[in-house]
Amino acid sequence: MFSKKLIQLMQPETRVCVLTGAGVSAESGVPTFRGAHGLWQKFRPEELANVDAFLNNPELVLAWYQYRRELIDNIEPNPGHYSLAKMEQYFADFTLVTQNVDGLHRRAGSQKVYELHGNILHNKCFQCGKAIQRVDFVEGEELPRCECGGLIRPDVVWFGEMLPEKTLTTAASKAVEADLFLSIGTSAIVYPAAGLPLTAQRNGAYLVEINPEQTDLSRTANEVLSGQSGEILPKLLEATGIAL
Ligand code: OAD
Repeated sequence: MFSKKLIQLMQPETRVCVLTGAGVSAESGVPTFRGAHGLWQKFRPEELANVDAFLNNPELVLAWYQYRRELIDNIEPNPGHYSLAKMEQYFADFTLVTQNVDGLHRRAGSQKVYELHGNILHNKCFQCGKAIQRVDFVEGEELPRCECGGLIRPDVVWFGEMLPEKTLTTAASKAVEADLFLSIGTSAIVYPAAGLPLTAQRNGAYLVEINPEQTDLSRTANEVLSGQSGEILPKLLEATGIAL
């Protein structure tokens, strides 16, 4: 199932960079954005995850995020998340970059997670930008507001907004340095995150994709492991002799 090259690279001194997307949380019960089993068919993510949508209809956008928060509250990380947490301990130089806002990597024990698109469990003020702890949105009640009067929004990156600069810069430099890059559970179409696997490969990394479906990256990757990350990652650890 795994190439000799990949098994050879599974050494503690290998510099590893990982990019995860919604697919890594699919087996926990978090719907992906796109594809056959994407839940948000009713709305395209681009339609709700943007500033204009929030300003035009904050109730709808906040209700969408509140629904997703409650979903996340009631599910658990899966073996894919736990395997990545284990890999962080095994490799001396390991970087986990995620597009996911669900916080499941941390809940599985990953200590250092570069969250490119923010975290759905945190809030900030739309007006003054102040970080605000979780505030739940209750339909029918007044919209939550910061002390400055601004509307409170989830602390996530919306389409058209900049990614957190330092997080992106670090992720990009770790991609450049990597010997092994794993692209897991992402359709690899939303940039700049989708550029990281290509940057890594251009700079000499061995690029492995884990996904049950073909993506734009599948043709480029050095190795495609076709299947669910919650099954493949534990098998990869087992093949390497790492106990989960
Ligand atoms: P997508 O929904 O675009 O892609 C999910 C990918 O996971 C697909 O390629 C699936 O085939 C794959 N997949 C499904 N189940 C899987 C499993 N069990 N194991 C491994 N892979 C599986 O999600 P992302 O690529 O994360 O951004 O989407 C990128 C960004 O677009 C999101 O962060 C979000 C969204 O709009 C913002 O909100 C800014």
